[in-house]
Amino acid sequence: MQESIPEALVNALRAARKVAVLTGAGVSAESGVPTFREAQTGLWAQYDPQELATPSAFRRNPRLVWEWYAWRRELVTQAQPNPGHFALAAMEQLVPEFTLITQNVDGLHARAGNQNMVELHGNILRIKCSADGRLVTDWPPTEEVPPRCPQCGSYLRPDVVWFGENLPYEALATAVSAARACDVFLAVGTSAIVQPAASLPLEALQAGAVTVEINPQTTPLSRHVAFVLAGPAGEFLPRLVETTWPGTAATGPAEIFT
Ligand code: OAD
Repeated sequence: MQESIPEALVNALRAARKVAVLTGAGVSAESGVPTFREAQTGLWAQYDPQELATPSAFRRNPRLVWEWYAWRRELVTQAQPNPGHFALAAMEQLVPEFTLITQNVDGLHARAGNQNMVELHGNILRIKCSADGRLVTDWPPTEEVPPRCPQCGSYLRPDVVWFGENLPYEALATAVSAARACDVFLAVGTSAIVQPAASLPLEALQAGAVTVEINPQTTPLSRHVAFVLAGPAGEFLPRLVETTWPGTAATGPAEIFT
């Protein structure tokens, strides 16, 4: 894929004081983490994620939901951040005000080095009490699946947003204000279907930001944005960083740029 990066985009990004980025499962695809809507593999192939990632599924069959997340935790723990993740970590060092807003729960952005991050849908590596939502970092060994909260005895669950649940208010408020205030907004690896995340690029557009989509597929967002880079994030993001800030090789762990 030799599609060039438009000069106008490079100039806008280079001149930007504030950049906001929304990522979806596509940015982790090149790390081997299946995107949300592609078929699940192996044991879980017969289950539809939208059927498992719900409070009613957890009420009905807490063991099945816990084991599905345990399988996904294993997957993401074995996965490595890819050059797309590292490019976003490098970008955070190169832009005066950078906000990474992710729908992903895999923790790969943090492992790549991003710090100013909003996890709209939570993080699969965190566990919380299903009754009061407090994070729980350890519990007594037990044969019971799911394990129970050591404080109140309710089942433990992953700290992720399920379908039908509200997003963490703070996270959403931070994401909306970053989208409204930024000079450049990048939407990377998201099908731009699930609300309210899918509205963030449009908030940025309405506020006058230069908007960009990086995705090999067309999405409902594609016709609204100023620039579409139709290809993999793992290729376009490093090229975008390298073209905008030459000499800042961004495919490995982000060194702090002095
Ligand atoms: P999806 O699986 O809906 O979309 C993944 C997007 O990534 C698609 O548009 C693909 O074309 C694109 N893609 C695939 N490979 C790519 C690559 N190498 N580089 C760039 N893009 C690539 O995942 P999301 O949009 O993240 O919410 O889904 C959003 C939310 O829907 C998820 O966070 C989840 C789900 O409901 C909750 O769990 C609450």
